[in-house]
Amino acid sequence: MTASRTTATLHSILDPLGVHAEHIDVVWQTMLWVCGVMFLIVFTFGVLAVMRGRAKHQGQDVTPQHRKFSIALVVWTTLVVLGLFGLTMTSFFTDRALVRAAAEPDVLIKVTGYQWWWDVQYLHSDPSQRFKTANEIHVPVDAQVLLQLNSQDVIHSFWIPNLNGKRDLIPGRPTEFTLQPRQIGIYRGECAEFCGLQHAHMAFDFVVEAKEDFERWRQQQLASAPTPPDAKTQLGLSVFMDSACSMCHAISGTPAFAQLGPDLTHVASRRMIASGTLANTPENMRRWIINPHDPKPGTLMPAVSLPDEQLDALVAYLGTLK
Ligand code: CUA
Repeated sequence: MTASRTTATLHSILDPLGVHAEHIDVVWQTMLWVCGVMFLIVFTFGVLAVMRGRAKHQGQDVTPQHRKFSIALVVWTTLVVLGLFGLTMTSFFTDRALVRAAAEPDVLIKVTGYQWWWDVQYLHSDPSQRFKTANEIHVPVDAQVLLQLNSQDVIHSFWIPNLNGKRDLIPGRPTEFTLQPRQIGIYRGECAEFCGLQHAHMAFDFVVEAKEDFERWRQQQLASAPTPPDAKTQLGLSVFMDSACSMCHAISGTPAFAQLGPDLTHVASRRMIASGTLANTPENMRRWIINPHDPKPGTLMPAVSLPDEQLDALVAYLGTLK
């Protein structure tokens, strides 16, 4: 279990692995090359001018040749105009391509930003096919993914560097965003707009998988939480219901339905906890429950102090929520 949990995630704007990122990469490459060549030309002529100034200082004849000068000026002006025109057209066609790529969605997901985690709802015309999760989004490879982005408190920004640019989540102004990943893998997504103390701990996993794997995951997420299999986990569930946990979190299939914190129905199936802050292990879960302010100072999750036996039972119960 630990091996897969420490696997490095895909996280680079220089490695476009989605349709949108590929379009954006064309702009980046064009800008880099056009501006790089222009810079070299300007730099070369700057050096030549300095050398010319020195030659003049040493008494050599450097009378300008007007004809050569005029030709150089025309060539340079043409280069600048062509360069700027090229950049403008690249940007224009990329914008068009990005909008066109947003046509018919295969998956529709509503993502809401909170200080400091992501609420994820899979929408569907059939209510029985809807479900909720948090800080981990799964999609099938090559699917057109339409995201409805929203914020519940301050401005956040949704960003998966390998797949598309950034999109701000502004409270009261829902917006739409599309992705089309081309390669299977776990991508690191993150908040790209400073949103308070734990902005840097507002990450999420974006899991791109084969269609069958996604369908299996979706069926598992649609199911209610399993009933506790033994006495210890049964005690864990009662601890969950009787302590502060159930005042903020929901576990479908139990009486816990609060919406203030992440939905925990299948928390054990997630790779990370605390929005990409800690690997999802029993030790970390324990640490997170008794003192969440240690790994994540300022988090709105309160510390829950419990006797050891109850804490063990709670962690064991949460571990059954696959
Ligand atoms: Cu949310 Cu930064």
